[in-house]
Amino acid sequence: MTAEIRTYSDAGSLAQAAAEHFVTLARKAITSRSQFAVALAGGSTPRATYALLATEEFAARVDWPRVHVFWGDERCVPPDHPGSNYRMAREALLDHVPLPARNVHPIHGEISPEEAAADYERTLRAFFAWNSGGRGSRDGAPIPRFDLVLLGMGENGHTASLFPSTAALHEQTRWVVAHYVENLEAWRVTLTPIVINAAANVTFIVSGAGKAERLQQVLRGPCRPDLLPAQLIRPTDGRLVWVVDAAAAALL
Ligand code: 6PG
Repeated sequence: MTAEIRTYSDAGSLAQAAAEHFVTLARKAITSRSQFAVALAGGSTPRATYALLATEEFAARVDWPRVHVFWGDERCVPPDHPGSNYRMAREALLDHVPLPARNVHPIHGEISPEEAAADYERTLRAFFAWNSGGRGSRDGAPIPRFDLVLLGMGENGHTASLFPSTAALHEQTRWVVAHYVENLEAWRVTLTPIVINAAANVTFIVSGAGKAERLQQVLRGPCRPDLLPAQLIRPTDGRLVWVVDAAAAALL
C-alpha cells in the first residue's frame, strides 16, 4: 500500500490542514451515514488541530450531535490528570462544541487497566454492533470500522500506545489491550492494529524535526514493525494519509 503524504510548511499550516481534513471526512460520513465515529489521537501534536476545530470557522461546519468521539489510546490516569488524553481533547475541543455527553466515549483511565480495556471493548461492541460497515468479526461481533482514526507517531516510531517490542503489536484477537510499557514505567490502554486497520480513514499527524529520522525509517525504510510500530498501520479497506510538516518530512 502506498501511503498518501501531505506536507505543510510549518506546524500551524499542518494543524489547519488536519482540521480541514477532519471536517471534510465528518461531513462526508454524516451525509452518507448520518454519523461520524472518530478515534482521537493523544499526545501533544493534535492539540492545535483540536483547538482549531473548536473555533467558529471550523465548528460551524460540523453537525456535532452526529459525531461520536472515541480515543485510540489512553494513559491509565484519572480523566483530570495532566497526562490524560481525554483531558487534552476535552479542554481543546469537547468543552467548546455542542457534542452531547452521550457521544463521548472515553477509555476509563481511572479504573484498573485490564478492566478499562474490557470496558472499552464492550463500548466498541455496543456502538458498532449496528453500524460497523466493516469486514470480519470476533465471535459474531463485527470489527469496529471507525470513519476516522487520528494517530500521532512518537520519536521511537510508536503509535497510539503500540510501543516497540510489546506483545500488543502481535495481538490477533482483542480489539483493545492494556499493557505495562517498560520504558515509560506506566500502564497504557490502546486499540490494537485489528481495529485501527479496519477504519475507513487513518490519518497520522506528525510535526517537528525530532520525528524526521524516524518518519523516514517508517515510510522509506525496511519493514520492521516490531521496532517501528507505525508500520503496522495499513488499513485493510481504508485510506491512509500522513499529514506532516516540512521539519518532520525533511529526510523523505
Ligand atoms: C499518546 C499518544 C501517542 C502520541 C505519540 C506522539 O498517548 O501519547 O497516543 O501515540 O500520538 O506519542 O506524541 P506527540 O504528538 O506528543 O509527539
